[in-house]
This record gives sequence, C-alpha cells and structure tokens, in this order.
Amino acid sequence: MPDTYEPQEDSFLLAEQVKKYARGIVLDIGTGSGIQAITAAKNPRVKKVYASDVNPEAVKYAKGNALRQGVKNIIFMESDIFQNIPTIRFDTIIFNPPYLPADVKVPDRALDGGKKGYEVLGKFIEQVSDHLSPDGIVLFIFSSLTNKQKIDEFLVEHLFSFEEIAQEPLFMEQLFVYMLKKSPALLDLEKKKVKEISAFDHGKRGLIFTGKWKKKKIAMKIKNPSSTALNRIENEAYWLKRLNKKEIGPTLFFSTENVIGFEFIEGLFIDDFIEYATRKKIMNVIHSLFFQLKILDDVGVDKEEMHHPLKHIIIGKAPILIDFERCHVSQSPKNVTQFCQFLSGKIRLELAKKGITYRTDEMRNAGKQYKKTGKIESIFSILNHGNISHP
Ligand SMILES: C[S@@+](CC[C@H](N)C(=O)[O-])C[C@H]1O[C@@H](n2cnc3c(N)ncnc32)[C@H](O)[C@@H]1O
Repeated sequence: MPDTYEPQEDSFLLAEQVKKYARGIVLDIGTGSGIQAITAAKNPRVKKVYASDVNPEAVKYAKGNALRQGVKNIIFMESDIFQNIPTIRFDTIIFNPPYLPADVKVPDRALDGGKKGYEVLGKFIEQVSDHLSPDGIVLFIFSSLTNKQKIDEFLVEHLFSFEEIAQEPLFMEQLFVYMLKKSPALLDLEKKKVKEISAFDHGKRGLIFTGKWKKKKIAMKIKNPSSTALNRIENEAYWLKRLNKKEIGPTLFFSTENVIGFEFIEGLFIDDFIEYATRKKIMNVIHSLFFQLKILDDVGVDKEEMHHPLKHIIIGKAPILIDFERCHVSQSPKNVTQFCQFLSGKIRLELAKKGITYRTDEMRNAGKQYKKTGKIESIFSILNHGNISHP
C-alpha cells in the first residue's frame, strides 16, 4: 500500500517495547500498517486495543493486516491525534509519530512532524494525560533529528515523569523510545480536580504552573526535577500557612508532598512597577513592604533574598511577597535591613526619576538605626524627606 508507512527500524524498535510493556486497554495512535496495535493485541496482558490514524488508507490497510494475522480484538478508527478517540482512560498509549523536520519539496504525513519535527509530538504530549489512566504508560519513539531537548522540556512542562527505555543508532541519527508516566505532582493535581494546567515560569528550585481550581485561576509550584534542594515545597507550604494568618504572601489553597496551590497574583515585579507607577503609589507600596518585612522580623523568620527581591514581590492591588521556599527561623532576621540594602542599590536611580530621593549612606544608616531600635520610622522619614525635596 504506497500511501501507508511500511514498518521500518523505528517501528520494530518500538514494537519490542510494546511487547514488553503494553497492558490493559491500549490505544495506538498513527497506527500505519497496524504493527504496534497488532503486537499489543497479541499480548495476554492486553484486554482491548484501539488503533487510529489520520490517514483513512492506513486505517483500511491496518484492518486488513490484523484480519490476515487472525487478530480480532482491535477497534480501528480515523482520527487526527485524539480528535475522534472515545473518552475513556487508556492503560497504554502508543505513538510512532511523524518526527522529522518537514521536507517542503516532498511532503509526507507519515514522516513530517512539522517545521521543526516536534510539532505533532508536542500536540500529542499536550493532550495525552486527559486520555491516560492514573497509572497508565505512554510509549513513543522519536529521533535525534527531532530535538531531544525540546521534547524533554515539553514533558517537564506537562508534568510527566519519563525514562528513555531504548535507543538505537540509525545512519546519521539516533532513535529513542520513551516511557512516560504521570508525575506524582500531576496525579495530586488531578485528584484535586485542577484543570487547564499550563507551565508559567521556572526558577532554580521550583517550577510554576497555572490552572483552574474551583472556578478560579491559581498558581502551583512543584519541585524542579533538576534541583537537589530538599523539602522546599513542604517548607513553603508551612510558612505560607503561618504567614497567611498575618496577611503575608499569596493565599495557600492546598499543599501535598509534591505540589502547592496558591492564589495567582496578577501584577508587576517591583522594577516594572516603579517604571510605570506614580510617586504616591510607589511610596505606598514601599511603606507597605516595610510593614510586612517588619512583621517577618518580629515573627523571627528570615525570608531571604530581600536584598535582590526583583522576582520576590508582585504588585497588583497591593504588594505581595512571594517565594517562601528558603524561609527559615532566625535569631536575627534581616528582612527589613536587606530591603534597605536593595533600596541603596541601583533602584535608587529609578526612584529618583519619580522624585523619591535619598542618599545611599542615609538609607544604610536608617537600616542600622532600625536594627538597634526595632522602629521603622527612621526609614520612613528618609523616604518622606525625598518626598519633600521634590514636591
Ligand atoms: C512513522 S508512521 C508510524 C506507523 C506505525 N505506527 C509504525 O510504527 O510503523 C506515522 C503514522 O502517523 C500517522 N499520522 C500522522 N499525523 C497524524 C495525526 N495528526 N494523527 C494521527 N495519525 C497521524 C501517519 O499517517 C502514519 O501512519
């Protein structure tokens, strides 16, 4: 059948893994000749197989191949990835996708994975968890020409745990077979019924996602798989719970061993805020921040990083401190003094543009004064004096 992909090295390599791992209810996407679906159907651990292809010729061809081999428990259908797939949860999902960068001169739907090679696979990864049972597995194959790093990033962004279970050199390329499972964080979020999960940002220690929970947009943080730091998620949950009682930090909605869900704050980081806000608003925000940081000092906790807080404060209706991963108990907390240090740095020039002027040594001394007295008034008077000299 000229319009259908005849099994090749990639098909055989993936089929070996299908033989080893397929179980339960199986879905084979892009079935082509039907090789993966037929291999799965012959496996005694497999109950039922669904096989689909976007190409109707392939569906016909695979059906014929299955019949010829006496395999009867496969349901065939035409579908563009998951478009027409029944809404059941599969225990095994298999895909040998078109994974090569598209050849514009000789287009071929069995091979062309999009301009870069990973577009079809990317779409598949985006949708696959909605079709996979909680302990289900995904088996798929791609090549070194597909951009492995991008695939790995996609998988992390979609909260999958993954493992390379086979590889094979092939002329100028290398083939890889991956097995995916839902990560513990994804399983927790599914249990909590969080929908529309989407990657938002990644820090050194935590990955941030957004999602919909109880009809509202929330933020979620999971441990960055490449970080070696221990217990950061638990630590942040602990401190948010405590500090929320003092109206500090985004409201914590839930926490598990693997993920925390909290209020999504719409707003600007402090440097952008200073650029766009009026002097009065900036003054209010700085005052509010000092009050919050003094509360942290009074509680006896160091938030850390307040001397470079550019990514640690979001200013919406009010300034909210974020990122409590490194928060810890301290005999001599430095939240206020670190923020004085920040205000003594480069940001001073930006504040001066808005008419908030003070000298570096004045700000530093005010910090020292605060350290002795525990009173923030000396700091405020410096800021206010800037206000007076630039009406
Ligand atoms: C590389 S072949 C693999 C065929 C077979 N599964 C195998 O292992 O030999 C890719 C198959 O995916 C199908 N395909 C391409 N784009 C698809 C899409 N968006 N949805 C479903 N199938 C698609 C092609 O028609 C082709 O049959």
